[in-house]
Amino acid sequence: MGVEVSVEGLTKSFGSQTIWQDVSLTLPQGEVSALLGPSGTGKSVFLKSLIGLLRPERGRIIIDGTDILQCSSKELYEIRQMFGVLFQDGALFGSMDLYDNVAFPLREHTKKSESDIRKIVMEKLELNGLIGAEHKLPGEISGGMRKRAGLARALVLDPKIILVDEPDSGLDPVRTTYLSQLLIDINTEIDATILIVTHNINLARTVPDNLGMLFRKHLVMFGPREVLLTSDEPVVKQFLNGSKIGPIGMSEEKDDAQMAAELAQKEAGHHDGSPDDDVRGVIRQMEASPGLPVRAAVGRRQARVREILHTLPPEAQRGIVASLEGRYGPDSMDGDYAAEPVHHAAVDEPDTEVFAAVDRGAHHVRGDGNV
Ligand SMILES: Nc1ncnc2c1ncn2[C@@H]1O[C@H](COP(=O)(O)OP(=O)(O)OP(=O)(O)O)[C@@H](O)[C@H]1O
Ligand SMILES: [Mg+2]
Repeated sequence: MGVEVSVEGLTKSFGSQTIWQDVSLTLPQGEVSALLGPSGTGKSVFLKSLIGLLRPERGRIIIDGTDILQCSSKELYEIRQMFGVLFQDGALFGSMDLYDNVAFPLREHTKKSESDIRKIVMEKLELNGLIGAEHKLPGEISGGMRKRAGLARALVLDPKIILVDEPDSGLDPVRTTYLSQLLIDINTEIDATILIVTHNINLARTVPDNLGMLFRKHLVMFGPREVLLTSDEPVVKQFLNGSKIGPIGMSEEKDDAQMAAELAQKEAGHHDGSPDDDVRGVIRQMEASPGLPVRAAVGRRQARVREILHTLPPEAQRGIVASLEGRYGPDSMDGDYAAEPVHHAAVDEPDTEVFAAVDRGAHHVRGDGNV
């Protein structure tokens, strides 16, 4: 099974430029998490810090119980073996064909025979739909195939933690969905802890168990996906909706006066291309492909989320209870519990304590009791 990755009070600077500070989060063992954030907020720097390629100045990164900022270089070397990484640019060797690219970590880090290597490489190529392309060079294939080749290479050492940096960039929406399915299936089959950095809202809404966002040098939030998907935080709302209205500007952050002026223009009827619909709300999570077992992370996460339910914002609690009942979309946010619940086998019955907790939370914060 995958291992837990826990980050505490992490701060990273380059010279006088602080990239992010005081970042704390836990990637639960074997669950899929995703990190959102505008360009340049340091998502790739964060991934590189997790594998020890960059060194934050403050904080702790605890992987399977070891703080990689304190451990010996030998320990770090061993911990790095647990990672499979798909870098943002794919990072394939341009002069090697796909077969040799995927075989590379095995030849570099193991003493396996070429016939054993062949078995593993062909299995990973097949999993990623690359059979027939093994003798192509990276320059001869499409961007989507390069992503899948990078993913195949990230899987050959049986990683316990998989980091994927913008797997969707440059892919059409259909290929992005196939890639999302592949990530869910990989999580089902090897139960690795997965962190995906993405700008793709559909992926963010359907794939991860947990969601977080970096903005203004801070981790705005990180937790069960329902928390971010139902959040009222202006930056989260703007990002999920791809709207111009909100704190994220073209090249830098906006000040309050500019934000107020834009909102006034919109309210006066000026159409600036920002969508009128609000896509926030919990939608159904992608499941493993037919023929695969139910993802083991689903049950573990449900148990975990129940424990912390009472600590979450009321909207997120409603979203979680709604998804336990199989109600999604706007239904997960409006507090209208009259809809017919749809049960599916993988989901346990929510217990009465959960409802009681939600009741209390909703009364406390909203005071409307409309749960
Ligand atoms: N090795 C480095 N040395 C100095 N500055 C760096 C280095 N790597 C990244 N940066 C800076 O850190 C900031 C964050 O970069 P990063 O690539 O992590 O952003 P990102 O959130 O991944 O953006 P995108 O969504 O566009 O990929 C940028 O300002 C970048 O210039
Ligand atoms: Mg990046």
